[in-house]
Amino acid sequence: IRRVTVPQIRDRKGGEPIVSLTSYHAHTAAIAEKHCDFLLVGDSLGMVMHGMESTVGVSLELMIMHGKAVVRGTKRALIVVDMPFGSYEESPSQAFRNAATIMKETQCQAVKLEGGARMAETVKFLTERGIPVMGHIGLTPQSTNVMGGFKTQGRDEDTWQIHIDDAIAVAEAGAFAIVVEGVVEPLADKITKAIDVPTIGIGASKTCDGQILVMEDMLGLNEWVPKFVKKYGAMGDAINEAVAEYAAEVRSRAFPGTANVYGSNKK
Ligand code: KIV
Ligand code: NA
Repeated sequence: IRRVTVPQIRDRKGGEPIVSLTSYHAHTAAIAEKHCDFLLVGDSLGMVMHGMESTVGVSLELMIMHGKAVVRGTKRALIVVDMPFGSYEESPSQAFRNAATIMKETQCQAVKLEGGARMAETVKFLTERGIPVMGHIGLTPQSTNVMGGFKTQGRDEDTWQIHIDDAIAVAEAGAFAIVVEGVVEPLADKITKAIDVPTIGIGASKTCDGQILVMEDMLGLNEWVPKFVKKYGAMGDAINEAVAEYAAEVRSRAFPGTANVYGSNKK
């Protein structure tokens, strides 16, 4: 197998931190995989690529379309595709049917789904039938309408045990890694210690077994990003400057220049 495998990710528990980013697009995935262990085709693409207000409106078709693009654009990284809202919660068999469709159509290596103890039966059902599952607990964006927004979890220590039990349930059900999103740092530390598969933190803690960020956020494509994002680039500024220069050169007829036009064959 030429790509990073699911067991290789699982075996990184407690070892060198796992590096990952979201990826929605062939060319950026090809760059990111040079530095990442796995890439996640996250349903955040609904917001980042398609201007939706939450991930609730993302369809299976959209996930498959971007999943195909990322698999085609990469050779080495493990590719995980998010199961969108409504494609897995109803029953283990609904989840299997849609996860199998995602894997067949995109040729990705694993799927991710949101939810703790309530999804454990589904995680087990899929894993036992050949579909590796990455879990996702803590702040689960597909539940934004129940939570009333994207809220950091675990500010109240009385709620910690629920999240720890969620992590244990999903890990025991067979998940090969679990994304821990938007929880207070000491809770992320406790979750990481409580399970024997890697935790992948986002807005969590440096003690997690790996980290993930939305690529466009860390590249600085948009002005506003949440506190847990560190901007490693200023892609929004770079695009703005390039487009402004292009517009000025078109208006002054400096573009296209002699290097950018074709001549006829000389007789
Ligand atoms: O959709 C997404 O981008 C995610 C990551 C933030 C983990 O699920
Ligand atoms: Na997601």
